[in-house]
Amino acid sequence: MLLKNDQLDQWDRETFFHPSTHLAQHARGESPNRIVTGGSGIYIEDRDGKRLLDAFAGLYCVNVGYGRTEIAEAIAHQAKELAYYHAYVGHGTEASITLAKMILDRAPENMSKVYFGLGGSDANETNVKLVWYYNNILGRPEKKKIVSRWRGYHGSGLMTGSLTGLELFHKKFDLPLAQVLHTEAPYYYRRPDLAMSEEDFTAHCVAQLEALIEREGADTIAAFIGEPVLGTGGIVPPPAGYWQAVQKVLRKHDILLIADEVVTGFGRLGSMFGSHHYGIEPDLITIAKGLTSAYAPLSGSIVGKKMWAVLERGTDENGPIGHGWTYSAHPIGAAAGIANLNLVDSLGLVKNAGETGAYLVETMKDALGAHPHVGDVRGEGMLCAVEFVEDRDSRRFFDPARKIGPQVAAALLSEGVIGRAMPQGDILGFAPPLCLTRAEADKVVDATAKAVKAVL
Ligand SMILES: Cc1ncc(COP(=O)(O)O)c(C=O)c1O
Repeated sequence: MLLKNDQLDQWDRETFFHPSTHLAQHARGESPNRIVTGGSGIYIEDRDGKRLLDAFAGLYCVNVGYGRTEIAEAIAHQAKELAYYHAYVGHGTEASITLAKMILDRAPENMSKVYFGLGGSDANETNVKLVWYYNNILGRPEKKKIVSRWRGYHGSGLMTGSLTGLELFHKKFDLPLAQVLHTEAPYYYRRPDLAMSEEDFTAHCVAQLEALIEREGADTIAAFIGEPVLGTGGIVPPPAGYWQAVQKVLRKHDILLIADEVVTGFGRLGSMFGSHHYGIEPDLITIAKGLTSAYAPLSGSIVGKKMWAVLERGTDENGPIGHGWTYSAHPIGAAAGIANLNLVDSLGLVKNAGETGAYLVETMKDALGAHPHVGDVRGEGMLCAVEFVEDRDSRRFFDPARKIGPQVAAALLSEGVIGRAMPQGDILGFAPPLCLTRAEADKVVDATAKAVKAVL
């Protein structure tokens, strides 16, 4: 039974520990809450009857849009037939085995197996363990450190929160852990010297990486992890030639590459994977969000052939792999994944993400590119960001205390559109469902222009 808004509001503030929330303000009732009741297409609806265009697809995950009955029915069917069985010691279900096959059919070359988890964070924890196991089996117990980038986002667990290169996720949590190293973010707009070309900046990032490897010793570094396009760190596509140059260095030093495709996997860039998009040849790929479009929690680690051969050797030498979750390969998540990937194909969403995404970025540039407080409008596929600055020519940023990004996001919300104030910098991010139409993209841009005008 539905409860009255005020009753739910009271329980919410008294009992519910929300992630990524100012806990004290929420408990005291000083910050707004929203109780979401429904969704259809790219819109969500709340209990007050307010309909909002969700231009961030939840947390860049509802890729097929809300209210897809095909996925709901697949989940219901699976729940009735077999809601759960585990995947330990060789057990599986038709859904989990079929989904593993579907993922590998879509994955870049040289991938071998899929390990299923529940969310992006646990999938990256799995990846780190697999990297360590791999080097132990190869008799390289010192080769364990993982290099991540400042502004990378890889989750909020102990290792994954350490890999995440954002201050908020470290502060007061005793992170990052010692095995994690951070290197320069490939963030061209924030390059140290404005005179640098994109190519110069790529060379600078790679030189920073090489210097780090030199300092630490390549025999202590196991892997490099990166998102094909930086996501939560600011929605930043890489500068020209970045992935090619980075991979050259990693190969030279026998350092594994983990492509964190939690956001970019299954079409967001207009390619099935970001690895296809940028010519990345990873040893491990992290997937989550777009795998089920968040209709049920499911993530995965796609393991490349080179690592797989060593993992097999490891179990021949040591017995079964000591890694697993109760809910690994949960049948309901797997059923959702199959129905979701079928929809991504039948609706042509990868192609639409590329085409309508490019339209969104171009239209946003036309509307805001010349605004005196807009320093950068950027994007790739169905990802777009607008970065605000106090002074455009000198690229002087606003004092973070003024919270310009959150103010613009709030003004956008009053125009009926959800964007996201990215956590580090005055950056408004967009990652709409991949089914966005041009008319809907126009609405997002019009509302953003109004919001920017209201605040700046
Ligand atoms: C690139 C990337 N990796 C990992 C994660 C962590 O996923 P989860 O929040 O499902 O644990 C996220 C979440 O936004 C992400 O964007």
